[in-house]
Amino acid sequence: MTFPKLDLIHRHRRHSLVNVPPARTLLDVLREELRATDTKEGCASGDCGACTVVLSKADGTHAHTVNSCIRMAHSAHGLKVTTAADLSVNGQLHPVQQALVDHHASQCGFCTPGFVMSLYDLYQRANGRPVTRDEALEAISGNLCRCTGYRPIIDAACAMHTYPRPASPPALPAQNDDRDPLNPHYALPTQLTQLLRLRATHPDAQLMAGGTDAGLWVTQQHRRFQQVIDLTRVNELLRIETYPNHLAIGAAVNLHDAFAALAQERPSVAHFAERFAGRPVRQSGTLGGNVANGSPIGDSMPLLIALGAQVVLMAERKGRVVSRHLPLEHFYIGYRQTALQADEVLCWIVVPKPLAGEQLVHYKVSKRWEDDISAVCLAMQYHLNNGVVQSVRIGAGGVAATPVRARQTEAVLAGQVWNATVIGKAQDTIDQEFSPISDMRASASYRRLVLRQLLQRAWLQQQGHPMTQLEDLA
Ligand SMILES: Cc1cc2nc3c(=O)[nH]c(=O)nc-3n(C[C@H](O)[C@H](O)[C@H](O)COP(=O)(O)OP(=O)(O)OC[C@H]3O[C@@H](n4cnc5c(N)ncnc54)[C@H](O)[C@@H]3O)c2cc1C
Ligand code: FES
Ligand code: FES
Repeated sequence: MTFPKLDLIHRHRRHSLVNVPPARTLLDVLREELRATDTKEGCASGDCGACTVVLSKADGTHAHTVNSCIRMAHSAHGLKVTTAADLSVNGQLHPVQQALVDHHASQCGFCTPGFVMSLYDLYQRANGRPVTRDEALEAISGNLCRCTGYRPIIDAACAMHTYPRPASPPALPAQNDDRDPLNPHYALPTQLTQLLRLRATHPDAQLMAGGTDAGLWVTQQHRRFQQVIDLTRVNELLRIETYPNHLAIGAAVNLHDAFAALAQERPSVAHFAERFAGRPVRQSGTLGGNVANGSPIGDSMPLLIALGAQVVLMAERKGRVVSRHLPLEHFYIGYRQTALQADEVLCWIVVPKPLAGEQLVHYKVSKRWEDDISAVCLAMQYHLNNGVVQSVRIGAGGVAATPVRARQTEAVLAGQVWNATVIGKAQDTIDQEFSPISDMRASASYRRLVLRQLLQRAWLQQQGHPMTQLEDLA
């Protein structure tokens, strides 16, 4: 079995590795092949951030943090991987590191390399300007520290701009890539036609996007993929296209960019986006991966269902590219089952632009504010005309085997006067419309109660009642 070679740039050198299996993680390659033991393994599930590294192109552009524990090593082929020990030059600590030392922001130190990388990413983005406390909190949203406490870490983040800026390391000269991008052991196609051809000829290969779901199957369930088709280099799927009436978001666009595009039309989505995982997961995970994975507690789907989103599924058949559109709610046919055929790939998520007067609410209820998956999610889009509900769409998560559209509840509201009595009837209906399960996140009765209450909240919010937000209590 010949695996494709894996080229990485690390510690200002190029490394070329052979015999790296398709399901080997970037963290394992860093620690065991490159001896970069500054990068730690805490949870191996994307939750703690100890393994955070910065991935970028060879010239340092397109830099972003990822959890190396759940990222497949081959997905980083040709890229630069920056880890904490890269930052100090000739014994001189980087401003991020010096600020953490000076603010006593490390005790056992196990989490520290991950915090260093998240703050380094913020430092680079800030480009010399001071950062706010909120920016610091957002940057470290994927990092857990069990001993230091967050105040000194946040203080260090807010002070890092006061230290002299370090010189940038010299860029390495460009080098031609002689890896076969279509090697089916780990294929990195760059064109949609290549991807669809590979899918047609290797329908059993594992499709891999950001790996923030599929990477956990490797580390938690010990699954080993023989063949992987990686979607993250396919040019067409990395595009966000704007049309007069809709946005078309490529399936490989990361969650951070996809939510930012949605937030341009609907600013409230920005706040919702901050509740989705932590920054490294949002920068690695894709919108297509969230939708295709089909988890009943996936966060983007209730919102997308409420917005009337469609998915575009594409395949190559008899040498021709074929496609079909499905309303997102029809994409799900059972618990973690979708309408995707073996030769199909989810290529686009098409989201209608808002019509005048759109009202949109979306709520996520989870145990933790950051870096946690929903117990219940509810999104509602509606239009009122002279106090009458002209149209309404409701998407819900965490209440059935799939993400769902609450059609019965919509029917109670549509065409009715928007008042407390009708909302009460809608609450009674949504209470009966779904049969949630009890699990570690919430009991069935809690989920039903929360659904009811979220409709009440939507009503009160529209009436202009001041809403208490969890973060306001901090
Ligand atoms: C710490 C942590 C926190 C998280 N928090 C949240 C959260 O708050 N809310 C939430 O909803 N999710 C959360 N997740 C889950 C995960 O991040 C999302 O589901 C993410 O969008 C998955 O995208 P991905 O690109 O990483 O998919 P991958 O893991 O690469 O793939 C997931 C599945 O989708 C398939 N797939 C991917 N792209 C396509 C495509 N274009 N066509 C067909 N099939 C495809 C893959 O084959 C695989 O079966 C969290 C995960 C972690 C590790
Ligand atoms: S080791 Fe915990 S996020 Fe990777
Ligand atoms: S310093 Fe010990 S976990 Fe953060």
